Amino acid sequence: MIYGAIVSAHMLGEVDCIMRRQYLGSSDLHVSVVGLGTWAIGGDFWGETDDAQSMQAIQTALDSGINLIDTAPAYGAGHAETVVGKAIAGRRDEVVIATKCGVVRTKDGFERNLKPESVRQEVEDSLRRLQTDVIDLYQIHWPDVDTPLEDTLAALKDLQQQGKFRYLGVSNFGPELMEQVMREMDLVSLQPQYSLLQRDIEQETLPFCRRHNIGVLSYGSLAAGVLTGKFKERPAFAEGDQRYHFYPFFEEPLWSQAQELVGVLREIAESRGKPTAQAAINWVVQQDGITSALVGCKTPDQARQNAAAGTWTLTDEEWQIIDGAYRRIFSS
Ligand SMILES: NC(=O)c1ccc[n+]([C@@H]2O[C@H](COP(=O)([O-])OP(=O)(O)OC[C@H]3O[C@@H](n4cnc5c(N)ncnc54)[C@H](OP(=O)(O)O)[C@@H]3O)[C@@H](O)[C@H]2O)c1
Repeated sequence: MIYGAIVSAHMLGEVDCIMRRQYLGSSDLHVSVVGLGTWAIGGDFWGETDDAQSMQAIQTALDSGINLIDTAPAYGAGHAETVVGKAIAGRRDEVVIATKCGVVRTKDGFERNLKPESVRQEVEDSLRRLQTDVIDLYQIHWPDVDTPLEDTLAALKDLQQQGKFRYLGVSNFGPELMEQVMREMDLVSLQPQYSLLQRDIEQETLPFCRRHNIGVLSYGSLAAGVLTGKFKERPAFAEGDQRYHFYPFFEEPLWSQAQELVGVLREIAESRGKPTAQAAINWVVQQDGITSALVGCKTPDQARQNAAAGTWTLTDEEWQIIDGAYRRIFSS
């Protein structure tokens, strides 16, 4: 089936060559280096979305060689999972499904909740919404300081033994918490924020993951769209849009620094006849230790464009020029 997806993309003439894939940590999940993120298609906090278009975007991503879809119950209070479930119906065997637990929607917003009874309920809800009987990668979304981690892990171990999910991952964890997890269970992946504009994990977390063969799925790889170069001036998002709250790149001085860096990315991308977004995605994917860049998209066009990043690479020299520009711009 996966081969079929690649062939259909070729027949459409939409990709240069075959999408690169890598194994996720110690698992047998062979995932595309570009993964599809579904926060935006949850339908809230991220501008306008349209479910029919979101489903087309997901199907286009699969047709373009993407086989990794990341979602979470927190995205639209389950809506993103429901849309993913509908979009992949009949194509389940082409997809590595990654979803999460531990961020629960409440009347007033979100709460972190890793209590065993909540996690048990969440996994059942996710399976139902995704229309599947097993989740490939189940990730703890954020730490919950009010619940002892060992209690959560005991519940997760039980759920894994029951066959509810295949592999465990975490998100937004540092080395210390990951070590705690690894004492109890096999940990195959970390999902941290990582992009050319957010490189904190390079200090300790990424080396830790490399040492322990933990796969890394970067989120915010396009810095919420800033690294596509499409915003000519600071966008005026509607009140409540999470992009302003979650990502700091729309505020000065980061905004102007980001624009300078986008100029360098654009120049390199244009010299290769590629869109700027693809150079930004490949810079992430080509960092040692990154397995896949998760990239959010709302339209089939974005899905097709972003998937195509996985079919070519920056040269070492191009990668270094971008890295050097980052160091120059952000050291001032
Ligand atoms: N674990 C966590 O705590 C966590 C946190 C955040 C995200 N995530 C995951 O990581 C995924 C990726 O991160 P993200 O969605 O927050 O940010 P992102 O991938 O950096 O940005 C995605 C946004 O950029 C715009 N875009 C994408 N491709 C484009 C293209 N080719 N041309 C122009 N614009 C384009 C789209 O928004 P517009 O069209 O509206 O501009 C899209 O929604 C999420 O969807 C989610 O699955 C996880």
